[in-house]
Amino acid sequence: MKGPGSEPRSGSRGLDAVLADLSVHVDGLRGEGLGRRLETPNGLDFSSNDYLALSNHPGLRRRIMDRLAEETAVGAPASRLLRGHLKVHEGLESRLADFKGTESALVYPSGWQANVGLLTALLGPGDRVLSDQLNHASLIDGLRLSRCRKVIFPHLDVEAVATELARPWTGRTFLVTESLFSMDGDLAPLERYADLCDAHGAALIVDDAHATGLWGERGSGWVEACDVVDRVLAIVSTGGKSLGVGGGFVAGSKTLIDYLVNVSRSFIFSTAVSPLTAYALESALEVLQAEPERRQRLHLNADRLRRQLRDAGMGSCPLLGRSRGPIVPVRIGGNDEAMEAARQVQADGFDVRAIRPPTVAEGTARLRISVHADHTDTQIDALARSVLAAVSEHRLMEVTV
Ligand SMILES: Cc1ncc(COP(=O)(O)O)c(C=O)c1O
Repeated sequence: MKGPGSEPRSGSRGLDAVLADLSVHVDGLRGEGLGRRLETPNGLDFSSNDYLALSNHPGLRRRIMDRLAEETAVGAPASRLLRGHLKVHEGLESRLADFKGTESALVYPSGWQANVGLLTALLGPGDRVLSDQLNHASLIDGLRLSRCRKVIFPHLDVEAVATELARPWTGRTFLVTESLFSMDGDLAPLERYADLCDAHGAALIVDDAHATGLWGERGSGWVEACDVVDRVLAIVSTGGKSLGVGGGFVAGSKTLIDYLVNVSRSFIFSTAVSPLTAYALESALEVLQAEPERRQRLHLNADRLRRQLRDAGMGSCPLLGRSRGPIVPVRIGGNDEAMEAARQVQADGFDVRAIRPPTVAEGTARLRISVHADHTDTQIDALARSVLAAVSEHRLMEVTV
């Protein structure tokens, strides 16, 4: 998949020629079964990252409206280092730090900006960074922009991490990983990573975006559940998944956050998140903490779906076997086959999307099913039947087992 313009055309590079290049590129993607279109939601949501079903929580909506009605400003139209820094940001960051169990936290407009802002601020060409092969695009781009020395290790391969860390390196070494992987739904062995980092003088950075709200006594995520909060340099997360609203943040020591305030370009050169987003994030955090039963229900629901698929013959599907938590991937393989299977499940009234390259590796297109806390047993059982029918109709059972 080359980018547009990778084969220079002769003659004019004016507007028409550039637009023609763009069309050719998108047609090429469509020809490979990789075209994308924006589609508004249809069907019962088994695809979004709204794992705790907070995005439509009536109490949360009321809470946000009430907070907003009390305040005068709806916007913070300046960067945080100028007039955009408001009391609501301070309150929110202190609350996020308590939630994550760190000294401090810093809010960014999105998780993407948090990852890129953190990695580009911290890392440079003299640094070596071990990065899981399946890390999210925002981590990959942050590493690329930082021009550090990247060492990509096979997914969740602790032995490979140990081997790489043992190699000599004169500069600093970091290990960067997601906690709950967004497309495979499996979990990183953070305690073992922390032990290895301690043994080799490396620093651990964890993107806890998908796990936030789902594990740990406070419900703060997989870093808390693995009891490694104090052994991690930075925890990145987003308000756009379990918290159901939007925005992103980095949690860590006062020293780290003070450094980011001074150096992190996506924080410094961007308008402050609006009071609306800040209230939404703070209110979502309150609801998440007040209703821990949501995450218990979510895990029961996801286990139910996995059990149904396993019992129906998908027991040895490699992705399904490793999945924990709400993300249940059903590997199909081919792009067209995955799209067709998704269409069939959608026709049964479920919003399930096919995930294709480059989001996942070539030949591993899949249905990425996302289970939520408010799904009923009946809905989960009906979805399982629909997925099984779509998979067996395409004789894909053999591929997935
Ligand atoms: C693992 C991971 N990190 C970061 C992000 C970016 O978060 P946001 O959507 O808030 O930009 C995502 C979003 O999809 C993600 O899956």
